[in-house]
This record gives sequence, C-alpha cells and structure tokens, in this order.
Amino acid sequence: MTTDTQTHPSLLPGAHVDAALYDKMYAASVDDPDAFWGEHGKRIDWIKPYTKVKNTSFGPGAVHINWYEDGTLNVAANCIDRHLATRGDQTAIIFEPDEPTDPAQHITYKELADHVGRFANVLKGLGVKKGDRVVIYLPMIPEAAYAMLACARIGAVHSIVFAGFSPDALSARINGCGAKVVITSDGAPRGGRVTELKDNVNKALLHCDDDVQCLVVKRTGAQVAWIAARDHWYDSLAAEASTDCPPEEMNAEDPLFILYTSGSTGQPKGVVHTTGGYLVYASMTHEITFDYKEGDVFWCTADVGWVTGHSYIVYGPLANGAITVMFEGVPTYPDAGRFWAVCEKHKVTQFYTAPTAIRALMGKGPDYVTKYDLSSLKLLGSVGEPINPEAWNWYNEHVGKGKCPIVDTWWQTETGGHMMTPLPGAHALKPGAAQKPFFGVKALVLDPTTGQVIEGNGVEGVLVLADSWPGQMRTLWEDHERFEKTYFGDYAGYYFSGDGCRRDDDGDYWITGRVDDVINVSGHRMGTAEVESALVAHETVSEAAVVGYPHPIKGQGIYCYVTLMADETPSEELKKTLADWVRTEIGPIAKPDVIQWAPGLPKTRSGKIMRRILRKIAENDFGSLGDTSTLADPSVVDELIANRSKQ
Ligand code: WT7
Repeated sequence: MTTDTQTHPSLLPGAHVDAALYDKMYAASVDDPDAFWGEHGKRIDWIKPYTKVKNTSFGPGAVHINWYEDGTLNVAANCIDRHLATRGDQTAIIFEPDEPTDPAQHITYKELADHVGRFANVLKGLGVKKGDRVVIYLPMIPEAAYAMLACARIGAVHSIVFAGFSPDALSARINGCGAKVVITSDGAPRGGRVTELKDNVNKALLHCDDDVQCLVVKRTGAQVAWIAARDHWYDSLAAEASTDCPPEEMNAEDPLFILYTSGSTGQPKGVVHTTGGYLVYASMTHEITFDYKEGDVFWCTADVGWVTGHSYIVYGPLANGAITVMFEGVPTYPDAGRFWAVCEKHKVTQFYTAPTAIRALMGKGPDYVTKYDLSSLKLLGSVGEPINPEAWNWYNEHVGKGKCPIVDTWWQTETGGHMMTPLPGAHALKPGAAQKPFFGVKALVLDPTTGQVIEGNGVEGVLVLADSWPGQMRTLWEDHERFEKTYFGDYAGYYFSGDGCRRDDDGDYWITGRVDDVINVSGHRMGTAEVESALVAHETVSEAAVVGYPHPIKGQGIYCYVTLMADETPSEELKKTLADWVRTEIGPIAKPDVIQWAPGLPKTRSGKIMRRILRKIAENDFGSLGDTSTLADPSVVDELIANRSKQ
C-alpha cells in the first residue's frame, strides 16, 4: 500500500541524516557491522578503549551478545562529567511538577554532578557495592534520575518499578533481582492525587528479606509508617554526604539495569541491559531519530518506570549533553491543555508521546491546543503501539501545525532503543508506519507457519531480526535459558519480536501488533497470563481466560472470561470485586475493562483454550470464528456469543 505523502510535513531542513546519507549509512551498518559500530562507539567516552566490537551469535543453544567487550567506561561519567567543561552551567534537566502553580526546576549539569555524587555516596554508605541491585520506586522527580545515575556511577544495577505497580508486583521484583536497597518517596503526587508509595513499600517488604533497606526521598511531607532499623530519610543522609564520588570503571558488558516486562507466559521477565552498547545505541538513536541539536529542549512524556524513560529521558539525552524535560503529572491535569502549556512554557522543540495520550486529548477537542503557542516545536514522536491515522492526523494538524515531522518509533524494552522509524530528514512520512529500520537493524518478515523468510515487497508475516545491534538486551536476569527460549526458540537463528508486520510496495514497514498472548494497554505491555493468574487466585474463580479487544482510548482493553466456582453466584457486584482484586494484585494498569461470565471456555480435546475464538467474541466479530470443529464442546461458543451482548 502506498499512501499519499503530499499533505504531510516536509522533511526537516538541515537534519543530521538525509535520504542519501541514510542509504549509505544503513548499507554500511549491515554490510560491515564491526567497522560501522567500531566507528560510532566512539561517540561516548571510554576509560579503556575497546579493541573488539561485535561478538554475537543468535545460534541455537549458543546465544551470546557482546559488544565492545574489552572496553571500560562509566555511564554516569558520560552523562555528566564529560559535559562539565563545555556546558556545566547549561540546564540538563527541566523538572515540571504535578501542580502547574509550583515552580519548575532547572538543574544544570554542574548541579546534576553534585546531586548524583551525593546520592552515590549515600548508597555507598548503605553498603551498596558494584554489582549490587537497587530497586527504584519513585515518582517522576529529579531524584529518580539522580538515583539511576548514582547507581551507574558506583556500578550498582538499578531496577525501576513503575510507581503505579502494586505492593505484590513490587515485592516480586525486589525478590526477583535480590535488591539490597529500595528507593522510594513518602508519596507520589500525580494528577492532583497522591499515591502512598512508602505504604506500598512497607507492604511489599513484608514479603522480602529482612535485610533489604529502604531509602526515602521527601516529596509530599506526609507522615509515613517507619521502621528505624530499616528506613532512612534521604535528606538526612545526603546532608552528611560528600558530592565527590569517583566513577567506578565498568566493563562494557557489566549490567547497567534490569527492567521487568510482561511476557506471554509466567512471571514478568527481568530484561538485562549492559553498559557500553546500550549507551552507544540510546545516545545515537536519540540524536538521529529526533534530530537533536545543541540548545534543543527535548521532552519525552514517558515515565522512567518504562524503558522509554530510561533511554529517552535519562541516558540518551544526558549522554548527548541535552536539555531533557521530566514531567511529574498527567496530560489531563489540571485540564487537557497541560502538555501544550508545558511545551509553551519551556519552549519544547521535540515532543515524544504515546498514541493513547493523543487519543485521550483528541476527545477533548482542539481548543485546548490552539490556545498555546507551540511555535518552538520542530518534531513530534510517537511510541508504544501503532498510531491510528485519525490520531496521527490530529497530532499533525493541531500540534505540529502541519510543519513537524512525526517519527513513529517501533521498539521494545528488549531492544534498548529505536529499531524502526522514519528519520526526519530522510523519509517522506506515512501515517501509521514505522517505515525504516535504524542502522544495524536487519529486519525480516517470516511466514509464521513455515518459518520461511518472505522476500520482496507487498508482504505480511511476523517480524524477526537477523542480527544483533548494540542496544539489544543480553539475557534475562539469572535465566539465560528462558532468554533463549523466549526470543530465539520460535524461529531458529532469529530474534523474534512477538510482533506481526507488513512490508508495503515501497519496502516500508507497518507494525500490525502482537501475535503472542501479550496485549498492549495504553502503550504498556500486559501479559494475559498474569491477569489470568491474578483472577484464579481469587477464591470465587475457578478458571479465567484473558484477551485484548479494541478500545477507543487505550488501544487495547482487557477482556476477561471468568468461570466461577460451582457454588458462587454471578453478580455485577462480584464483577467489580474481581476487577478491583486484579487492580490490587498487579496495579491500576491491569484492571479489567470487561468481565464476562463464562459457564465454560472453548477448549480443544486436549484441553487447550482456543483464544482465537475468545478474541473474536470480545471483538463482537462472530462471522469469522474459523474452524470450531476441534472443540471438545462447541456449544460453549454459542453460549458465550449469547452472553456477549449483555456486556
Ligand atoms: C511492544 C513493546 C519501547 C516502547 C514502549 C513499549 C509495541 C511499540 C510501537 C510502534 C507499533 C509499537 C509493539 C512492541 N510498539 N512501539 N511505534 N508501532 N507498535 O515497550 O512495553 O516493551 O512493548 O509495543 O507491539 O512489541 P514495551
């Protein structure tokens, strides 16, 4: 499919990469990755320069991924120290608090150095050493960035848990990575409400080792329950700490962070990113995809609890000496104009958000946008899910005024940085397409049934990557076997993304969504298995099957089929109880949108639930249920269809 590009924003003049350069660099990157990445690895500072570049294999039973393996460096030194001589007094972070009437903070690189040094010494004082794990459970406040960089400075491995996750999800992650310290705050203001983060940590730590310590940043000043032997106020320790903390010399392949993400089966997976390759890739994609130039003000609206926040609020921008905005609030507080008020206030030049936010704001009408001066914007970005043309057009017309290229960036927690995106100086845009692979990305389309590569254009299948890139995850925390099985087990020799895709007649890529049992709720990945196990953990539930269905704002909503225990009576009240139960078990993002009672679930004779059918019923699409002849009891389908209309 070719789309008319005439009405779309033209290319950014003077961008880092134009069409000819993209073609040349892309070819070089896949023809000779060693030479290409050997050269681009120099964009960051090394303590001991690498002599080896790429040592990777996707081979069955032997997957290993090493980049720059004999080089040493420190990520915090790259994000801070190396900028001090040239831009010590330049702003590094603009902090915009939840309340628009509270003052914004401008933190210079010099100030950042002091904050991070002090934070690092506080962690050291608590006994944190190189290689130890630290969980960060904080609101979007500058201390979240200080904590990340402090870990990087002393060689500790951070694992951020999004502040919207429940105490249970938090304790699972603390235990999963064996954290020594949890960093939190007394409370997290967001959209005019406060989440009691310290209370959540207190609950979580009931299920963790007694020697896990808790470091508490003061944000709201609220009273919090305290255990003197375990809890420490950050402020009191910081007051005594020196700002001087020499950076630890880290190997390129030492872990930088662990980030838990949902999969199609079992417990969340601890994705491991390492030091050298990750920083090269995060900083290079930040500069090139967003065409970052000196003096630009870059705003990524994600939370640091997600990989987007890691790579494009903290590590990528700061490694590039950029000005990065950290926003504590939500797009609709105090009203639906907040994003645009902040863009005007801080003269944002690049704005990067998720389609779900665009759709939510679109519904409130364009007046919230037009009253602000958005003339500083030069580029817009989208991430998290395919962007529907309606949202794309609204973003383009009302926010970009038809003048800002929109980069639709496809990537994953596992990939560390952008994998496919149009580049603003190189590619005429197609609304809804991720279009072109980034340098070093060898994208292939496979036939999902035969596993054969589908050549040529105008084709559709599953998306795999044939070779490694520096930002790739290295393993799952302490579970390399699961890593190999999850990502390399389906199609031997290839990294399987879990996404379907189409390559159109022009050779541009369109991501068509997950093909596994993962659903994408508001740009966040949710494993259906996780929601199912939360549901069956409730005493009234005998069985549950969860699927995604199209949702006007969230992209996909969570649709649950629930079979109750024989002596339970279905009621609207029980539906609410179950929805709240899942919310408490996992977190607000996992709260079911629809619960449908299911006297029986469609199963094959071998007992496998046929989710394909459940998806169709949830979508209200009964015409194409496909082959139901292998079902043990086809009548359950009729019953589910009959009950569907009552939802
Ligand atoms: C999944 C990864 C790393 C970004 C935040 C989400 C979907 C992401 C796009 C896009 C179509 C997209 C994919 C992917 N996705 N960006 N631009 N177009 N789909 O990270 O939680 O690891 O989820 O999000 O399905 O596999 P994540």
